[in-house]
This record gives sequence, C-alpha cells and structure tokens, in this order.
Amino acid sequence: MDLEAIHSAPPEMLAQARAIIARYPQKRSATLPLLHLVQEHHGFISDADIAWVAAETETNPIEVLGVVTFYPMFRTCPVGKRHVRVCRTLSCALRGACHTMETLEKTFGIQHGETTPDGDITLEYVECLAACASGPVIQVNHALHEKVTPDRAKEFAETIRLSLQEGGYGKSPCLPNSPEWNG
Ligand code: FES
Repeated sequence: MDLEAIHSAPPEMLAQARAIIARYPQKRSATLPLLHLVQEHHGFISDADIAWVAAETETNPIEVLGVVTFYPMFRTCPVGKRHVRVCRTLSCALRGACHTMETLEKTFGIQHGETTPDGDITLEYVECLAACASGPVIQVNHALHEKVTPDRAKEFAETIRLSLQEGGYGKSPCLPNSPEWNG
C-alpha cells in the first residue's frame, strides 16, 4: 500500500518512515520506531496513525493498538507543547515531588492530568523515571530534569514558560541544557 495514499504525512516524515522500514528484514519489526516517529511529528498517536503503521508493517491495527497501549511513553490524545511529567514514586515523593507539582499546578492554572487552554503545557504524574538519587525528577518532553525541589519549582515553571519561545513540540530541546536542572 502506498504511504501517501493512506496518510497525509509531511514528506520529511514519509522519507524517515521509508528509511526506518528499510532497516528491518521483517516490516513488523519497524512497529516501535514508526510509532515513535508518528508521535514525534503529531504529538500523539491517533486511530489514523495506528491504521497507517499497521498498513506499513503489514500487521493489523489491533496489534499496533496493543503496542501503543502497552507502553506508557505512547499517547493517544494530544498533549501540550511542553509535556511535563513529574515522578511521584517513593524517592521523589519523599523529596517533595507532590509539593513541586502543587506549585506547577498553581503557576500554570491547571491540575495534573490537564492541559492549559492555549495548548502549551500538560501536567502529569508518572512513575519512576530512573534517576531516583536526584529527585524530585521531572521529564519535560524528552529531557530529564533533576532536583526540582519544591523551593525551586516556581523558578522551574518560569524556565518552562520561557522555553516555549523556542519552538513547537518535539522540534527543539524543551529546556536549556543547564547544569542547574541536571544534577
Ligand atoms: S523515584 Fe523518581 S526517578 Fe525513581
């Protein structure tokens, strides 16, 4: 099936998809990287995206849906340009992650699980982000930020706001690569 015929994706994305599929002797092995590619471009994975990946990998949409729903890094609904995920597992919780989240909620005017009306920021709790010694840990888009203690949360929120001037979802680093927020 022709890629363009079933999915109106930008040429850049189609070229990347073709390169990914060509790497594997069996097309179904490209399922995960194709899902990452789709999410990178669209911000989430829609039903149409699932159908497209299934067609390209010569599998069924239900199989692709099973992969999407199994892995927590895949999203099936839109998120803000800055997807802010606060770890609430034990080490981070003991260091005040919930208070950090409260400050972020107040600053952005939303509760966790919500997106700001302008579509800029989504707040969410997640489980362990595998940097337990440096909690509270927050992931913003693809980048991990450590030691975001409650007393630093307001400053961190401001950094997120400033980063919005630098580009859309997944197109640029979400925050400056400052050692201040990286341990
Ligand atoms: S407990 Fe938060 S990163 Fe592991």
